[in-house]
Order: sequence, then structure tokens, then C-alpha cells
Amino acid sequence: PKRVLSGVQPSGDLHLGNYLGALVKFARLQHEIETFIFVADLHAITAWQEPSKLKQQVREIAAAYLATGLDPKVATIFAQSAVPAHAELAWVFNCVARLGWLDRMTQFKDKAGKHKERESVGLYTYPVLQAADILVYKATHVPVGEDQRQHLELTRDIAAKFNHDFDAPGFFPLPDALTQGPGARIMSLRDGSVKMSKSDPSDNSRINLTDDADTISQKIRKARTDADVLPEKLEELEGRAEAQNLVGVYAALAGRTAQEVLSEFAGQGFGAFKPKLADLAVSVMGPIGGEMRRLLSDPAEIDRILGAGAERAREVAAPNLAEVKKLVGFWAG
Ligand code: TYM
Repeated sequence: PKRVLSGVQPSGDLHLGNYLGALVKFARLQHEIETFIFVADLHAITAWQEPSKLKQQVREIAAAYLATGLDPKVATIFAQSAVPAHAELAWVFNCVARLGWLDRMTQFKDKAGKHKERESVGLYTYPVLQAADILVYKATHVPVGEDQRQHLELTRDIAAKFNHDFDAPGFFPLPDALTQGPGARIMSLRDGSVKMSKSDPSDNSRINLTDDADTISQKIRKARTDADVLPEKLEELEGRAEAQNLVGVYAALAGRTAQEVLSEFAGQGFGAFKPKLADLAVSVMGPIGGEMRRLLSDPAEIDRILGAGAERAREVAAPNLAEVKKLVGFWAG
């Protein structure tokens, strides 16, 4: 049976990249496949989070899920910390994964920078916890942005090694990353060679889910571009990173392919394209921020949704974890 699982860290404002790379797909998939979407608060504390703020940050991500179309009657929405099975399975996986596998993870290298000895151990084993998030539900499909592909490959490696080591063929599925479409890798509006990110010091580099219409338009007007017109063919955009990115953003927001967008705008410059893109972005993103603010005015209702989701998630995870304990041979198995 197919099952979708994905999550987002509550560690800063969500942006257009998170929306197009992940959230928009959650809302779509929930009607096709049984869907579990969580807020990754265990992952968030791999870097320091202010304890008095973390719970509210979790509610903000939950509000973003709801505002972008996840329906708690259809999908299971919960906080990672409410389901202890994630952390329990992660321990077993820490003993399945090899140091060499984790040493290859590029996201750790990017995040740790020069002083990796000062990072938390959790940041290093972070992808192992991610594998546990997915496999504790035996999920088969994981909608994420391109930057998570390597973590999904690690998840498959861990699943395969567990199945082999504990003589349990097919026990864990080897899940697929769903990264199709023009939204899988949205780049900074200031520099087409780096991805749009929560941690970029320039707020003009990204469009936040909570930005109002004027801010969205302004950021698109200021986005870096070149002086050429848009070509007819996708291949001709090669080497024009900023142009490529804005065409990709348009395509993802409109639910069209980049080639279709070029066919419409070929021969036009950014003076003409940007206002059209701004209108489209405002019409899609504008209402989301408003809906998030409305939902966040009733935190008790968000907590109720997260509580019900956690109950359902625990029900699904418990028998899987019990089988793992038996396979490993634990006293408590
Ligand atoms: P996080 O919180 O960094 O990002 C959430 C989702 O947004 C995607 N994303 C992007 N997509 C396109 N363009 C961008 N510029 C961009 N930036 C971010 C990410 O790929 C992600 O899908 N490790 C995960 C959270 C996680 C998880 C999991 C995901 C924990 N456990 C299990 C799936 C399954 C993360 O840090 O995402």
C-alpha cells in the first residue's frame, strides 16, 4: 500500500521555495494517497531554538499546512515530538547506518561550515532521524525539494541494510522522493546560484508565506535579472540562472511547464514579465498569509488538530516499532 509522508522544520519563516517544493504537493497528494505530514520539532533543535518560542513556531507551520490546503479530515497532521516512536526507531537506525554514509551528506557540510567540531551531534545524525520519520510509517512516497534527495537515498540504504541484517526481506519499503516539477529547486531572488533559504540574511532574497501583497510585488520587481528577452526554447535559457529561476517560479505558481511559460512570453523582456509574475505571485501567495494569521488567532484549535493527528500517527507507528523491537531482539520486544 502507498503512503505519503513529509515534514518541515519549525525553524524560521516559510518561503516560496518551501511552498513550491513541498507544501503545494502535500495538499495535492492527500486526495490520491494516504498522507502523513508532520512538524519536525526534533529536527529543529539540532540548532538552538528558544524554548519559549518553539511551541508557537510549531503552530505556525501547522497553520501554513492548513492555509495551503491540507485538510485534517483527510491528512494526518501532527508534531514529531508527540510521537516517541520516531526517536526510538532513530536509535536503532543509528546502529544500522555507517559513519561513511553520513560523512557524505552535503547538507551537513553546508550547514556546519568550517567548524564542524562545534556543531551538535544531532545535526550530524539528523538524516538518520529523517529516515526513521519516514520508515516508522512504512511510507513509500516523500514529497520534498531537490535539496532532500540525498537524505532520501540514505533512507533507502538504511531500509535495505535493516531488511538484510535482520533477515526481514521487504520489511521496510524503499521510499521514493517526489521531486518532479519546476518548483523542486527555487533559487534566491538576489543570486540565481544559491537556493532560496530561511537562513539567507537578505529578506529580499525570498518571498515569505506571510509577506503582504505590496512586499511580494516589490521583491519581484527588485529581483536580479539580465537585460535579454525571454527565448522560445528552454535550452536557450542555459547560463541565465536568474532568468531560469523566474520562469520556473512562474511555471510552478501557474501549474504549467517552463516551456509553456516561454511559449507565452518569448521575445519579451523582464520589464514586461515581472509585473505578470508579481500579479500571479500575489494572487497565489497573498491569501495564504491572511489565512495563516486567521488560523493563528485560535491556537487552541490548532492544538486540537495536532493532538488528534498525533493520536492517529501513534496508532500507525506503534505496531511497526513493536515489530522492529522483535526483529532486533530487544528484551522489551
Ligand atoms: P526544511 O524544513 O528545510 O524544508 C521543508 C521543505 O522545503 C523544501 N525546500 C525547497 N524546495 C524548493 N526550493 C527551495 N529553495 C527549497 N528550500 C526548501 C525542502 O526540500 C523540504 O521538502 N529535513 C527536512 C525536514 C524533514 C523531512 C523528514 C522531510 C525531517 N524529516 C522526513 C521529509 C521526510 C528539512 O529540513 O526540510
